[in-house]
Amino acid sequence: MTMTYNELRNLWIDFFKSKGHTEVPSASVLPDNDATVLFTTAGMQPLVPYLMGEKHPGGKRITDIQKCVRTNDIAEVGDHCHLTFFEMMGNWSLGDYFKKEMIAWSFEFLTQKLGFKKEQLAVTCFAGNENAPKDEEAATAWRAQGLNDNQIFFIEDNWWGLADGGPCGPDSEMFIDNGKPACGPNCNPSCNCGKYTEVWNDVFMQYLKKKDGTMEPLVQKNVDTGMGLERTLAFLNGEGDVFMTEVFEDCRKKLEELSGKKYAENLVPFRKVLDHLRTAVFILGDDKGVPPSNTDQGYVLRRLIRIAIRNLKKLDISDFVLSKLAECVVDKYKTYYPELERNRTFIMTELEKEEQLFNRTINAGLKEMDKVLSRVQNELIDGETAFHLYDTYGFPLEFTQEIATEHNVKVDIDGFNKCFEAHQELSRKGAEQKFKGGLADHSEKSAHYHTATHIMQAILRQMFGPTVCQKGSNITPERMRFDFSFDRKMTPEELKYLEEKVNEVIQQKIPVVCEEKTLAEAQAEGALGLFTHKYDAEKVKVYTIGNVSKEVCGGPHAQNTGDLGHFRILKEESSSAGVRRIKAVLE
Ligand code: SER
Repeated sequence: MTMTYNELRNLWIDFFKSKGHTEVPSASVLPDNDATVLFTTAGMQPLVPYLMGEKHPGGKRITDIQKCVRTNDIAEVGDHCHLTFFEMMGNWSLGDYFKKEMIAWSFEFLTQKLGFKKEQLAVTCFAGNENAPKDEEAATAWRAQGLNDNQIFFIEDNWWGLADGGPCGPDSEMFIDNGKPACGPNCNPSCNCGKYTEVWNDVFMQYLKKKDGTMEPLVQKNVDTGMGLERTLAFLNGEGDVFMTEVFEDCRKKLEELSGKKYAENLVPFRKVLDHLRTAVFILGDDKGVPPSNTDQGYVLRRLIRIAIRNLKKLDISDFVLSKLAECVVDKYKTYYPELERNRTFIMTELEKEEQLFNRTINAGLKEMDKVLSRVQNELIDGETAFHLYDTYGFPLEFTQEIATEHNVKVDIDGFNKCFEAHQELSRKGAEQKFKGGLADHSEKSAHYHTATHIMQAILRQMFGPTVCQKGSNITPERMRFDFSFDRKMTPEELKYLEEKVNEVIQQKIPVVCEEKTLAEAQAEGALGLFTHKYDAEKVKVYTIGNVSKEVCGGPHAQNTGDLGHFRILKEESSSAGVRRIKAVLE
């Protein structure tokens, strides 16, 4: 059976709608206020509160297609099926149907909608351990669909939950047996011999894994299923290679055109570029998108982009082509993910900037890497050397690992991490000595961003009047985010004006003066003090920037606006009702 991307998506959603499910849109790929995970890794992740018992507005049966990023397998990318970004087609029972119904529907969808034959299927069920019994109930449900016992495998690893705990339970995975001979007497769907390909996972969530690792029964029994869209598409269209499916087609052809090389003859570098670039586009193009940086999601993004750049070099491309390829990705997905279109400029600009930045160090770094490899001992690159490559040449650990692996050399990961942490500790101490203010991050760059928010707020109030005020801000050494009360989208002209006015204040090199006063004195002088309840009324710091701005603030701040560099707005978007959010950088 051949099937297009659109057809497969529709088939999934229509099937579950016909079984009483409500379709919900994909959540952001950058989770809301979740400090435990950097990315949305599964369809169930945004649904955790509902799996725990909260009422979902869509009812007890939900279906969707969720954007997911999983980068723990980044080194595996290069084969026919591993991806760092994928779309997960999912359906959920929130305390409604359970194993019997779900297994019957799984069988129906696989055989009647996707056209697999009963004999082609193999399934796994939970074998039992000290936490929970063997899942005979799931096996019985499969037998009821006509599967033979030699198609049903009991495996101890068949358990699914997020690494950090939460709702979890035994699962039943579905595989397609491609008919190759078994690799040995113990051959089963969980081995990697290539006989079986996993297509779907039904998780029966009955337990809650607590922070201390213990389990307790969940208030409600749920079903959580996930089918990988790209893998299924690859299987249905006979090629078995996710990169040969329609979703990568335009980008793959563009890369062939740009490199003058054929995909089939350069599988690994093509696949790495295609995969990493697509993931980068979805991270940048999310409405909560972040630019590349050295922390958290921004660092994962930087790794993906830099590894893609190296693989472009392997294809003898040294021009900047990432944005050309990214256009193909945006065009392919914009119907289903209109945020990519909304954020097209941001995606392209950030990719180009990262290419330029890395271009300054990559060649020198690759030469240094050659030297490192020529004197390597015991086939191991020590942590300090790997850290030096990171710190001086901008080689993320995975980047160094990739090159090392090609030379059958390993990298001392623990050693690298120790150096990395020691370095962070040093820069933290250094920063603490410089500033004694009350904010979490005291780097010089962050101080510049604090000053920039004051200037920006002052200009916004000049533009739109005193009802505009700060609702929140979030500053890292890489960027600033500023939320303010305002009830509509700013026009491109207004954003340009704001940017120009902030830059004017910077160019005027105005000293930033800090004075200590009582809160009453500060207010009498008209200082803005938006979060006054946080301050000690007897002693607050008032930061004055000429006649532009006067604000009560804990600091730290730049000493002179001239230190800030160039101010550039990345995005203006809605934050919540009546509140807008501006993301900006100082360059
Ligand atoms: N959460 C399960 C998985 O990721 C099923 O969707 O496999």
